[in-house]
Amino acid sequence: MQGTEPAPEELLKIAVEVAREAAGIAYRMRAEGVSAVATKSTVTDVVTAADRAVERQAVAALRAARPTDAVLGEEYGDADGPGPGGGSGVRWILDPIDGTVNYLYGLPHYAVSLAAEVDGEVVAGVVRNAATGDEWTAVRGGGAYRAGRRLGGSVETDLGQALVATGFGYDPARRAHQAGVLHQLLPHVRDIRRFGVASIDLCLAAEGMVDGYYEKGLNLWDHAAGGLVAAEAGLRVGGLNGAGPGPELVIAAPPALFGPLHDHLARLDAAGGP
Ligand code: IPD
Repeated sequence: MQGTEPAPEELLKIAVEVAREAAGIAYRMRAEGVSAVATKSTVTDVVTAADRAVERQAVAALRAARPTDAVLGEEYGDADGPGPGGGSGVRWILDPIDGTVNYLYGLPHYAVSLAAEVDGEVVAGVVRNAATGDEWTAVRGGGAYRAGRRLGGSVETDLGQALVATGFGYDPARRAHQAGVLHQLLPHVRDIRRFGVASIDLCLAAEGMVDGYYEKGLNLWDHAAGGLVAAEAGLRVGGLNGAGPGPELVIAAPPALFGPLHDHLARLDAAGGP
C-alpha cells in the first residue's frame, strides 16, 4: 500500500456512481434486445455482448476515477489491472451482469455487483438490480443499507421455519451433486428459493426477505459486494468449519440460523463433489 488509504465511504461513492451508470447501460441494451450470446464454461453458461460492454464501460470509469487501482472483472479477469504506476492497494471486484441467464430471458432480476478491496479486505460494496433500480450498499463497519434504510436480516431462529435461497453452478456434474444436497436439505427448512443472482440473494438475506442463503462454486465477483452487505446487516458469512466464504461454499445467515444450516450442509457434503 502506497500513500494514504482511501476511506471506504469514498470508495463506496465511486462504486455507486459506476454501478448506476453500468446498470443503465445493461438495462438499455436489454431493451434493445440481447445480442451476440456466446458460451463460457459449459453450454448453459452464457455471456452476452452486454456483459462485455458493461464491464468495459465500468472499468473505464474506475480507471478515470482511480487510475492506479487493480480491477478484477468477470469477463476479462485480471487483464484490466493494475494500471500504470499501480500499487494503490485497492482492487475493484466487478460482476458486470450477475444473473446473465435472467438477463437473457428478460426476467427483471439481474445486477451489477461492484466491491472495493483494500489490502485484500472488502471494505465497500454495491449491488444494483439493473431492471428495478433496487440498490444495496455497505461499507465495512458502517452497516448495510437499501433506500436509506439500515438492514438487519431475519429474526427467525428455527431452521425448520427458514426460507433459504441457493443457486447452482453450470457444470452438470456439479449440479447433480448440488441437487442431491438440496433434496436432503428441503425437509429441514420452510422452503427453498432460486432467484438466479447470487449477489441479490445475499442482499435479500441482508434484508430478511429470505432467512439465509448458501451456494457452492461462487466466484469472488458473485459474492464480494453482496457478502459485505450481508455481513454488515449482522449476518454471519462463511464457509464450512470456520473457513471464510469462497468457491467451496458461501453460507450467509443470521447467527442463530448459521450453526444449524452449516451443520446440515457439512453433513450433506455441500462443499464436496465436482
Ligand atoms: C451466476 C448467478 C447464479 C449463481 C451462479 C452464478 P452469472 O452468475 O449468480 O445465481 O447460481 O453460481 O455463476 O453467471 O449470472 O454472472
